[in-house]
Amino acid sequence: MTDEELSIRLASAGDEPTLRALLATGSLFSADLSTARQEYLLVERAGKPVGCIGLERAGESGLLRSFAVAPEHQARGVGTLLFARMLALARERGVRGLYLLTATAERYFLARGFERIDRWAVPAAIASTEEFRGSCCATAACLMLLLEGMEGDSRPRPRGQELTELLKGAT
Ligand SMILES: CC(C)(COP(=O)(O)OP(=O)(O)OC[C@H]1O[C@@H](n2cnc3c(N)ncnc32)[C@H](O)[C@@H]1OP(=O)(O)O)[C@@H](O)C(=O)NCCC(=O)NCCS
Repeated sequence: MTDEELSIRLASAGDEPTLRALLATGSLFSADLSTARQEYLLVERAGKPVGCIGLERAGESGLLRSFAVAPEHQARGVGTLLFARMLALARERGVRGLYLLTATAERYFLARGFERIDRWAVPAAIASTEEFRGSCCATAACLMLLLEGMEGDSRPRPRGQELTELLKGAT
């Protein structure tokens, strides 16, 4: 299958069951998932859902969440595409600091510019999100990425021309 068959879009309320199913493939928390309260990007390959990522905004801060690629589609750049498009979306929305909790992919995010921080150091609006308050993530690593001043930097880019072309589209 080729990357021409990949498409990415903002998910709507009707996509919630699909998002939950994707998150279940990665054993990720989805109890509070709501397209009304969070924004999700959904990648489809030949019309079938293969990955998603979510942004929960709280003023100028954002919680990066619900990042999953179906196991049979992993390690082919879908996660990188989702992540890059999510950064663009977060900037568009005026987010200056991105936060996340992860029990499974700390190295993935450290390699993409995030830094580990103490959990108590997050803004109050992030600390009050259900993900931060929930006991499911009590032992997860807390990471942050400042979005300001990232233009022209040398952070990792999506692999391949096809992904680069996809990144040019509007969400
Ligand atoms: C994390 C995840 C979304 C990445 O998606 P993907 O489409 O496989 O990612 P890409 O193809 O863009 O990137 C693959 C690269 O990331 C690395 N990687 C993938 N998962 C990783 C993890 N959990 N920790 C560290 N590195 C990881 C791969 O080794 C690969 O490295 P390489 O480019 O040097 O070969 C996917 O592995 C996944 O759904 N995992 C289960 C759910 C999860 O842990 N989500 C994160 C919760 S916050």
